[in-house]
Amino acid sequence: MIGSILVGLGLLYNTHGAHGATNSVVPSPHFVPLHPSSSNSSVTLTLALPPTNIDGLHAALYDVSDPASPKYGRHLSKAEVEAFVAPKAESVKAVTDWLATHNVKPQVVSSSGDMLCIEIPVSTANSLLSVNFTQFLDQTTNATLIRTLSMTVPTDVQDHVRFIFPTTQFITALIDSRPTVQVVQSPRAPSKRTTPPSLCSQQIYPECLEDLYNIPTAAATTSNNSLAVSGYLGEMATEDDLSTFFSLLRTDVTSPPAFNIVSVDNGITSGNGTLEASLDIQYTVGIATGVPTTFYSVSDSSTTGFIDLVNYFLAQDEVPLVLSTSYGFNENGFAGSEDVAQTFCNAYAQLGARGTSVIFCSGDNGVYSFGYNSQCSAAGTTFGPTFPSTCPFLTSVGGTQGINPEVVAPFSSGGFSNIFARPDYQSAAVSSYLSALGSTNSGLYNTTGRGFPDISAQALNYLIRESGAWELVLGTSMSTPVFASVVALLNDERLKAGKAPLGFVNPLLYSQGAGAFNDVTNGTNNGCGAEGFPALVGWDPATDLGTPDYSKLLSVVMAAAKSL
Ligand SMILES: *[C@@H]1O[C@H](CO)[C@@H](O)[C@H](O)[C@H]1NC(C)=O
Ligand SMILES: *[C@@H]1O[C@H](CO)[C@@H](O)[C@H](O)[C@H]1NC(C)=O
Ligand SMILES: *[C@@H]1O[C@H](CO)[C@@H](O)[C@H](O)[C@H]1NC(C)=O
Ligand SMILES: *[C@@H]1O[C@H](CO)[C@@H](O)[C@H](O)[C@H]1NC(C)=O
Ligand SMILES: *[C@@H]1O[C@H](CO)[C@@H](O)[C@H](O)[C@H]1NC(C)=O
Ligand SMILES: *[C@@H]1O[C@H](CO)[C@@H](O)[C@H](O)[C@H]1NC(C)=O
Ligand SMILES: *[C@@H]1O[C@H](CO)[C@@H](O)[C@H](O)[C@H]1NC(C)=O
Repeated sequence: MIGSILVGLGLLYNTHGAHGATNSVVPSPHFVPLHPSSSNSSVTLTLALPPTNIDGLHAALYDVSDPASPKYGRHLSKAEVEAFVAPKAESVKAVTDWLATHNVKPQVVSSSGDMLCIEIPVSTANSLLSVNFTQFLDQTTNATLIRTLSMTVPTDVQDHVRFIFPTTQFITALIDSRPTVQVVQSPRAPSKRTTPPSLCSQQIYPECLEDLYNIPTAAATTSNNSLAVSGYLGEMATEDDLSTFFSLLRTDVTSPPAFNIVSVDNGITSGNGTLEASLDIQYTVGIATGVPTTFYSVSDSSTTGFIDLVNYFLAQDEVPLVLSTSYGFNENGFAGSEDVAQTFCNAYAQLGARGTSVIFCSGDNGVYSFGYNSQCSAAGTTFGPTFPSTCPFLTSVGGTQGINPEVVAPFSSGGFSNIFARPDYQSAAVSSYLSALGSTNSGLYNTTGRGFPDISAQALNYLIRESGAWELVLGTSMSTPVFASVVALLNDERLKAGKAPLGFVNPLLYSQGAGAFNDVTNGTNNGCGAEGFPALVGWDPATDLGTPDYSKLLSVVMAAAKSL
């Protein structure tokens, strides 16, 4: 798992003076000021403008995602989605007029026009926003950030700008917290396919998942299907590693395995295979047999890269039908920057409304999300949820281990959001869990927040090929591409039958999917020594609805809104 440590608990307060609205922040002590930013250097700022009708977007998303709705599967066009999120003309005017008084002309960087970008000298920024741009060192990653402790926007502009980034947001850049890896000198390969497969108690490979979750091995056939894999942090996957992986572990496939690479923001398109990208590609191409799969290599690994990739997709006429991402943040890092998290989450809602199933890993530090590897002493304090997993408009994937019984992987993250309220689709499932839980963990989590993850899959001892070596790896980085592949294969069946792709699957899974998952009822996600949340019958924040049974899910998804 590659995650980001975002433990900056910024405290934000607003004051309103004669000249404008001021945001001030007291960052977490691991952000250390170094020196004022050189006034002749430049800073690139993104201005997010308030959407015209965000409630309308959310309602439209549920309309096309809830199988009980007559609009189920009738995903929105690019223009329809943009009409909800485009800023009001008066906002665009207020902001451009204000910038013009400083001779600054913004560039529109999102297709809907809800994000503007300006690249200006620090001296201009300092006077425009009454800021004191400063270089800060983030001691958890040693990354240097340009930020300011306070910022003022004129009163007549304040309601027309949701946030300006980066200013007072102390959100750490993505860091590489590598999953536990064990190099395997000569892996034991299954000599031929057997039922059940022979080596799954020691290592997980495609045949184990096919057997355990009833995943078909026959190649998908629709060419209009698509599966996208996010890549950050300079990660790369290679055809070479993938071919070797197939020659040992998918001996039933005769055609050479392939995937595409697309560069976003000048992300790299070649290089040696690295851990996260290799496992993501091997357990998408290797499970979603025959589904056209593309690796999106994004150069910017900060929060900016996350939004850039979504803006890239939203600008296309065709969005990918499944997006698998095995990176994330500790939601606590967005304290004081909730607007940024809300805007990201709404970007995923836009993808869902257009028909993408957005799928994120839940994280690898139990109830402490990402980044507690060196901070386990924090156990006993309030849990740290995982973002974007806590966004209600996407599907979060947790981890299990063992077969007969399949139990919670203790490192699998899960819990409750402090930013996003519990959505209706999970309210019955979560309420019944919370009543069964009683006072366990009371005070350590938010009882009204969105519960995550939504589903889970095996996450321990996966056999992968990285840059010429065999390795065994663990993490929800593994379960995420596997579930994404299950959705991609289900989409193949729906497309073949002339139906719409699944899009945002949670409303369907929570209302009709219960019988199509293997309920995991044994274990807790006790990361960092905390007691964690126990898996119980039904949904729980450890293994959620359970692990997928493809053949049962196929009946559920083919029955959903039959004619569409
Ligand atoms: C700006 O921040 C620096 C620290 O980076 C501080 O030394 C300086 O006093 C600040 N200037 C103003 C005008 O606040
Ligand atoms: C900024 O100004 C300083 C001193 O005036 C100079 O040394 C430096 O090279 C300048 N940097 C840029 C990026 O122009
Ligand atoms: C950051 O740099 C310091 C000093 O060079 C070093 O001791 C520390 O290990 C570094 N931390 C990380 C996360 O790289
Ligand atoms: C996708 O392709 C299948 C045939 O492979 C076809 O039946 C279906 O209509 C296509 N769907 C769309 C949305 O183009
Ligand atoms: C790839 O790995 C080889 C062997 O370890 C090394 O010599 C080469 O420099 C690496 N290439 C890149 C682009 O990192
Ligand atoms: C708990 O979550 C809700 C959203 O459901 C949020 O509004 C509230 O601020 C959170 N409480 C705390 C203490 O974080
Ligand atoms: C829970 O799983 C463990 C193995 O991880 C097993 O020993 C134990 O019997 C299981 N308990 C139940 C109630 O199934």
